Amino acid sequence: MRRPLVAGNWKMHGTCASIKQLLNELAEQDLPTSVDVAVFPGLIHLQAAIAQASQGSIVVGSQDCAVQLEEGAMTGETSALQLEDIGCSMVLVGHSERRQLQEETDSVICRKFIAAQAAGLTPVLCVGETLAEREAGLAVATVQKQVDAVLVELGADVLHNAVIAYEPVWAIGTGLTATPEQAQEIHAQIREHVAQYSAPIAQQVRILYGGSVKAANAAELFAQADIDGGLVGGASLNAKEFSAICRAAGN
Ligand code: 13P
Repeated sequence: MRRPLVAGNWKMHGTCASIKQLLNELAEQDLPTSVDVAVFPGLIHLQAAIAQASQGSIVVGSQDCAVQLEEGAMTGETSALQLEDIGCSMVLVGHSERRQLQEETDSVICRKFIAAQAAGLTPVLCVGETLAEREAGLAVATVQKQVDAVLVELGADVLHNAVIAYEPVWAIGTGLTATPEQAQEIHAQIREHVAQYSAPIAQQVRILYGGSVKAANAAELFAQADIDGGLVGGASLNAKEFSAICRAAGN
């Protein structure tokens, strides 16, 4: 059995005060003990969030890390080792917003994945097709290529300590969620693809769904056989909504 994981990606939201309040409110919610819960605040709020979350069971991760592991002349970057040093335990790599806005390529994402694991962090490898790719019938091929960008070079063993998140780009922040059937189809394809490298690892790796997940649709998404939780954007900024999503993953 794969243990569900619900992760909140706070993106570029929040102030010191609002983040503190959100974590306070989350601490008051009834979070299921059968679900791993993680939040990914912006870099500037990581340390405060880690200090606050250390009193509870919520894990804190970063939204990005540098390709380079060791410290060095990389102005504006933050290394995975620095993230580990302040108490982060996870990091998102390859989020579609970074692929699009920062023009991150599969090879850069693979290097970030390597850096994250070398620092002892759990990378969450984000994959997903654009609307144009879906309409061209390329959804499966796109996500397979994004998964291969890591697995061809590193092998499937790296998924022992990693999570995959399937986030169709057309469903992110649009209110357009993939139907449970659409999401399940791609999740199953991803798992089958990983199984070509290693069947046991394919069974063990957690694959999260992301894209307009909310309390109202979480239960039917998480009921699908190959959906092991969610990577939640907008709805994770509301403690009641996010905790309801976490509870849906526990049922
Ligand atoms: P929304 O839940 O706001 O669609 O964002 C999804 C996402 O990008 C999480 O990483």
